Amino acid sequence: MCGIVGYIGTRVAQPLLLEGLKRLEYRGYDSAGMATVDAGRLSLTRAVGRVQNLEDRLGELGGFGGTVGLAHTRWATHGGVTEANAHPHRDGSGRIAVVHNGIIENYTVIRQYLEEKGHTFKSETDTEVLAVLIGELFDPEGGVDLESAVRAALREVTGAYAIAVICAAEPDTLVAARKGSPLMVGVGSGEYVVASDPAAIIAHTTQAFPVDDYHVVKLTRDGLRTSNLDNVEVTPKIMQLELDLEQIDLGQFQHYMLKEIYEQPRAIRLCCRGRIDAREGKVVLGGLAQYAKELVKSRRVILTAQGTALHSAMIGEYLLEDLAKIPAEVEYGSEFRYRNPIIEDGSVVIAISQSGETADTLAALMEAKERGALALGVINAVGSTIARETDAGVYLRVGPEIGVASTKAFTGQVAVLTMIALFMARRRFMAPDACARLMGELEQTPDKMERILEQDDAIRTLTEKYVERENWLFLGRGYNFPTALEGALKLKEISYIHAEGMPVVFIANKGPQYDKVMNNIEEVRSRGGHVIAVATEGDKDIGRVAEDVMWIPDTPDPLSPMLAVLPLQLMAYHAAVLRGHDVDKPRNLAKSVTVE
Ligand code: F6R
Repeated sequence: MCGIVGYIGTRVAQPLLLEGLKRLEYRGYDSAGMATVDAGRLSLTRAVGRVQNLEDRLGELGGFGGTVGLAHTRWATHGGVTEANAHPHRDGSGRIAVVHNGIIENYTVIRQYLEEKGHTFKSETDTEVLAVLIGELFDPEGGVDLESAVRAALREVTGAYAIAVICAAEPDTLVAARKGSPLMVGVGSGEYVVASDPAAIIAHTTQAFPVDDYHVVKLTRDGLRTSNLDNVEVTPKIMQLELDLEQIDLGQFQHYMLKEIYEQPRAIRLCCRGRIDAREGKVVLGGLAQYAKELVKSRRVILTAQGTALHSAMIGEYLLEDLAKIPAEVEYGSEFRYRNPIIEDGSVVIAISQSGETADTLAALMEAKERGALALGVINAVGSTIARETDAGVYLRVGPEIGVASTKAFTGQVAVLTMIALFMARRRFMAPDACARLMGELEQTPDKMERILEQDDAIRTLTEKYVERENWLFLGRGYNFPTALEGALKLKEISYIHAEGMPVVFIANKGPQYDKVMNNIEEVRSRGGHVIAVATEGDKDIGRVAEDVMWIPDTPDPLSPMLAVLPLQLMAYHAAVLRGHDVDKPRNLAKSVTVE
């Protein structure tokens, strides 16, 4: 969704805010804006398009002074992509500026109320309604300062928000608050950075705390005060951010997506480190230790997720049934929440999410939790909302994923689900040596991934051959049915190619469905289809039926999706670049969908 950055301290805010926005641009890139307070005056500007356009606009204006300010990069939800709809939004008096991530659900009622009081609106957004409401309640002479006005306004709204607010009449204050949308406060010395993501904080401090739901934080250069909506003071839990700048810099790569594809061998090593003991045939998942018994005795596992994470959930379903012999099913978070799902005793729900902020996945988890299920998470973003709402879980440890198209999170999710399945399998029916064998193979997966990445140039050349085709079909069976869906999703997301026609990409690894897939290939060929295959090294037959082959090393079938997806990721990446698209900022796609 959108990205928020706020700053209060002793340094000039503008460069810090711009740098923070660039780090958050992956969250939304329709439009951007900034406001600062300098010498009791509020300066505000906005621009449609990328953060660069905002920077150019600021250059034309001679730049903003001030050591308190806020900025926003928008992903439109209410109102089209126009300058008027971009954030920050001002109240009627022009003294207060607000940036907001989320959706104020009752904004039409509040807008009507404010219009009856004589207020007019310049945008179609829910955020402007909130800004005007705060302005209406702000009454310094009457003892209602900015913090109190924000609190009073938030008591009136329903929906989701992460907000930051500044005011020309209170030049030494920045107020932030949250319900449902992510927001963090970085604590520096004599300064604070507020952001929707630690990526915008880490350059300035490693000390930070997540703002909790219904909490309001008042920041001044002398300190901070956190309270709930009833104005009861609460103590924030400051933590150390486990993130370094190198992880979020592009380095030698042209795009985050390619960097993250290449990071997969290392990411999977980190993900599995200390968690598998192949010699002993043991899986050690510290995050689940407390609930091991409940998990092993569970009668049904529901995996819930969206998008790419849903594809890894589908692989998780196969793994749990195949290895742990436990009934498992996959549920779109967006559907589960609106059904009347039946949760029997002994049900476990596993929410899978890279960001840990996907609204639909979160809602599904809460629904299952309320109905008595044990709520587990397979999450990448540490301390994210879903991670905090689960009873227990396993972090991916693959590092921050910035490219909008999910890559290393997918293989990380599959690796974690494999470990969870083995953890349960070993305690249920699986023989220790069978378990140990698979673990040994899992340990080999990063080396095998490295071998696949060596084919990058060859995959680029192959993609060039087909890049002008408007329709592609991805086919795979068994464990690689979800991999085929993921390959198609990757291509669609960043190349805008309709991935359901021809050429046909088959995942034809040497698994139990190999013969069936070979038959399917013959059928496609007999209808004139161009076959590109992902095949197992050493397969002598595939060259006879496929025009082009991308190779993966041999591996047990349950582990094959983690390898088979890599050529598909590279292919999607090259197709997008060859078509001249901005891979890290695909149109109409946001990295994290924090609204329904
Ligand atoms: C695909 C993609 C999206 C996400 C989906 C879930 O490349 O990025 O489909 O997978 O929005 O996001 P998370 O995993 O953050 O819950």
